[in-house]
Amino acid sequence: MSVSSAAVSASQPVASPVLTPTAAPVSAPTQADLLDFVRRTAADADLIASLPLDPEGRTWVRLEGPGGSEAWLIGWPPGTGTGWHDHAESVGAFVTAAGELKENSLAVRLPADGWKTLELADDVDRARRLPSGKGRSFGRHHVHEVLNETADQHAISVHAYYPPLPQIRRFSRSGPILRLEQVERPEDWQ
Ligand SMILES: [Fe+2]
Repeated sequence: MSVSSAAVSASQPVASPVLTPTAAPVSAPTQADLLDFVRRTAADADLIASLPLDPEGRTWVRLEGPGGSEAWLIGWPPGTGTGWHDHAESVGAFVTAAGELKENSLAVRLPADGWKTLELADDVDRARRLPSGKGRSFGRHHVHEVLNETADQHAISVHAYYPPLPQIRRFSRSGPILRLEQVERPEDWQ
């Protein structure tokens, strides 16, 4: 229910119950908020240039995300990737700040638990190229892998998640068969 400001003005009769000013509620960051944050962060050339790069493997730096979200700056040498995983109940966003990434994702909601392997339907695969400046947000239960498939170009990206990731489920994939391999908790990556 919304109440117009006129209803609580001193010059007007005030209906019961009396309305008193309260602090604006702190709202959880939305997918759009996270996407806005990762875009603005990716445009910070000094910050992007500050990430140490390692030709042998991914590098990362934790950032302060908006509204208590979890955020990361990640460097990807050619040929590296995350493997298939999901993000539990968190929503998120990421954007490529340098180089080019590819995202493979599944347009399907996976069961929460009680399974070890699943056979995927043949129409659930999605793929998108994310050259520098391109990003996306995603909703809860998003399943994907992110890769730098280029031969010789390091990539850098900015990621944000809300709520901070409570867990990540990791999967292996053989054709249509998805297998649950591991459940990671924050202590595994922080
Ligand atoms: Fe992810």
